[in-house]
Amino acid sequence: MGQVPPYAYKKQIQLTMLELGNLILNVPFMQAPLSGYSDYAMRRLARDFGAPLTFSGVMLAKSAVHPKVLRNPAFRPHDDEHPVGAQILGEDPATMAKTAVALQDVGYDLIDLNFACPTTKVLRRQRGGYLLKEPETVMHIYDQVREAVTCPVTMKLRTGFNSSQQSYDNFYRIVSEASERNIDALTIHGRTVVQKFTGDVDWNLLAEIKNHFPKTTIIGSGDLFDPQTIIHRLKVTNVDGVSIARGAVGNPWIYEGLNAVLKGEPVPARPTLAEQAEVIRRHFKGICRLYEPTLAVRYFRKFLIHYCRLHPTRKKAQKTLLAAKSKTQLLTAIEDCYVNGEA
Ligand SMILES: Cc1cc2nc3c(=O)[nH]c(=O)nc-3n(C[C@H](O)[C@H](O)[C@H](O)COP(=O)(O)O)c2cc1C
Repeated sequence: MGQVPPYAYKKQIQLTMLELGNLILNVPFMQAPLSGYSDYAMRRLARDFGAPLTFSGVMLAKSAVHPKVLRNPAFRPHDDEHPVGAQILGEDPATMAKTAVALQDVGYDLIDLNFACPTTKVLRRQRGGYLLKEPETVMHIYDQVREAVTCPVTMKLRTGFNSSQQSYDNFYRIVSEASERNIDALTIHGRTVVQKFTGDVDWNLLAEIKNHFPKTTIIGSGDLFDPQTIIHRLKVTNVDGVSIARGAVGNPWIYEGLNAVLKGEPVPARPTLAEQAEVIRRHFKGICRLYEPTLAVRYFRKFLIHYCRLHPTRKKAQKTLLAAKSKTQLLTAIEDCYVNGEA
């Protein structure tokens, strides 16, 4: 039967663990930062279902640094969810470094620097994805944050500001300089900033980047919706890990599926309606601990829309669940749709 080729050995290592500086994950995936979604309730659920690392949504550095903000439980990691990363956004290296220290001090295990956000408001203020046009600023921010904290520091990038050669050169320069400085990892969403969420994700480019920078930990992001495709992406591109974003909204089962496929087991069957109801209730309970009841019901609606994708009569279930205006009404609606078979 011959020896296992070194290539296969490398693949095996990659598909079973992921090193982000001193943080070692036993599986090569994580839950992405998701602004407006990845609060403690969603992160806790992701952990329960087997995500080895989760992230806060992006925080504006200059706001997050205020002690008053950091005293708010919504901005702090909870004791039972480590490791959890904090993602920050800003254009001023000193503020980013100060905020990184404050977030490390309140218990975050990793600091991720956002140079990817494509929203108009952020770009207008020359932050997030805009900074892909300014490799020097990106590296100043990185250097100051790296100097200031002891935990792992990573960066979230897109593949450039737009599809021009200049944009690509800037992106390549950032990857190259971050790699020379032994950054703990680069997460790359395989689209440009101007693409936002449209067009194909350039997984070929991610494979090329990994090939050019073999010693740098590269985490791929983009259109990762089901366990088999995700594992296929890992194998084919050779990236070290993947970051699960929209695929996990209303679908924490994705992590169970990934863990199963990594162990060579089949993807578990679709959760039964009773199992779905249990998880929806658990998620909602978590949200009710963070927000006052009316706000909790309103806030949870965007998750419910996604949970309904697994329901056999999706549209009807969605209508019933979204009509609920109070906590009691929502719990009754869940019972009706998932237990009493009324949707
Ligand atoms: C609602 C929403 C919020 C997001 N918030 C963040 C964020 O706070 N920080 C970040 O780096 N990326 C954020 N992203 C981008 C995702 O992390 C991810 O890179 C992107 O959605 C591509 O992955 P997907 O196609 O698998 O969803 C967000 C995406 C969505 C849809």
